[in-house]
Amino acid sequence: MPQSSSAVGTPAASESISPDHIFEIGFAFWKSKALLSAVELGVFTTLSERPLGGEALTERIGINRRGGRDFLDALVALNLLDRDGAGRYTNRPDCELYLDARKPTYIGGQLERLNEPLYECWGHLTEALRTGHGPSALANGGYAALYADDAAFKSFLRAMTGSSLIPARALAEIFPWHLHETVMDIGTAQGCVPVELAHAHTHLRGGGFDLPEVGRAFQDYVHRNSLSDRLTFHPGDFLRDDLPGADVLIMGRILHNWDLPTKQLLVRKAAQAVPPGGALVVYDNIIDNERRYRPHSLLASLNMLIDTPAGSEFTEEECINWMHTAGFRDIRMERLDLINTAAIGFK
Ligand SMILES: C[S@@+](CC[C@H](N)C(=O)[O-])C[C@H]1O[C@@H](n2cnc3c(N)ncnc32)[C@H](O)[C@@H]1O
Repeated sequence: MPQSSSAVGTPAASESISPDHIFEIGFAFWKSKALLSAVELGVFTTLSERPLGGEALTERIGINRRGGRDFLDALVALNLLDRDGAGRYTNRPDCELYLDARKPTYIGGQLERLNEPLYECWGHLTEALRTGHGPSALANGGYAALYADDAAFKSFLRAMTGSSLIPARALAEIFPWHLHETVMDIGTAQGCVPVELAHAHTHLRGGGFDLPEVGRAFQDYVHRNSLSDRLTFHPGDFLRDDLPGADVLIMGRILHNWDLPTKQLLVRKAAQAVPPGGALVVYDNIIDNERRYRPHSLLASLNMLIDTPAGSEFTEEECINWMHTAGFRDIRMERLDLINTAAIGFK
C-alpha cells in the first residue's frame, strides 16, 4: 500500500489519534460472552434469592474455581453485579429486574438465544458475507426446520417474548388505544405483545396469528396471564392465507425475515385486513434513512443474513413507501426503545 501523504499519516498527527475505539469494538465480544454465560449459568437468578460469597456462588452455579473468581469479579467490573465489603455478590438493579428467570420482567430469553445458537453462528460472519448464506437452522430450513427441534422451538419462543416485552410496553403507551377496540398481532409467537397491550388497556380484545404449531404456546402464555377470555389464537400461514381482521394490526419483527416482494405482500395483506380508520403498526430494528446512525439496526440486518434465508432490515423511508403504496396514510415513526422503532399508519 502506498504511504498516505495526508496529515493523518504523519507521526505527530498519529500520536494524537487514540486507538481506544478500535480496541473497544474489537474486544466487545469478551463482555458479551461473559454476560451470556452468566445468564446460561443462572448467576442472576441464583443471586436474586440472596447475596452469596464467591465460594458458595461458584458452587451453586457449578463452575470450576479456576476462572470462577475472575468471572464473578469481571461481572462486577462490568456493572452487572455488586460485591460488598464482606465479598458477597448481589445483582445490580437492572439485572435483578430483567435477568431473574422467575420474574415476569425476565428478558433473558433473548440473551439465551444470542448465546445459543447465534453466538456460534456469528463466528461464521465472514463466510456468510462471502456466500450470502447464513449458517443457522432457520436460515437453511426456515421455520419448519427450526420448529422441528422441540428445544430450539421453545428457546426461540422464549427469545421472542424476551425481546418483545420492552417494545410492547412502550407500544402500550405511545398509541391511542382508547380509540380502538380490537388488536391482532401477526406472527405473535407466545403472544407477549397482545398480552402487554391487554394488561395496559382493559377494553382491548383480539389475539395473535401465527403458524398452527405455535398455538399451544400462545394459549399457555395467555392463560398464565389470565387473559384467555380476551385474547384468541388464530392459526394460519401469512404467506398463503388472508390475515384476520382487527382495528389495529401489529407486525413486530416480521418483515425483516423476508425478501422485498414478501415484505410488500405482507403489508398489502395487512391493508386488506384493517377497516377504514384502522391502523397498522410495524416495529423492527428499523434503519435510519442515512444508514449511518443506528449501528444496532445495521448489525441486526446482518443478523438476518446469519439467521434467515432471505431477510434484511429496512429503512424508515422504505417502510413508509410500502405502507403508503398499500393504502396507509399519516404514517409516523416512534422510537420504542434503544433497539426498536415503530412505523404507524392509518387506513
Ligand atoms: C421473528 S418472530 C417475531 C415474533 C414477535 N412478533 C416478536 O416481535 O417477538 C416471527 C414470527 O412469525 C411467525 N411466522 C413465521 N412464518 C410464518 C407464516 N408463514 N405464517 C404465520 N406466522 C409465521 C413465527 O412463528 C414467529 O412467531
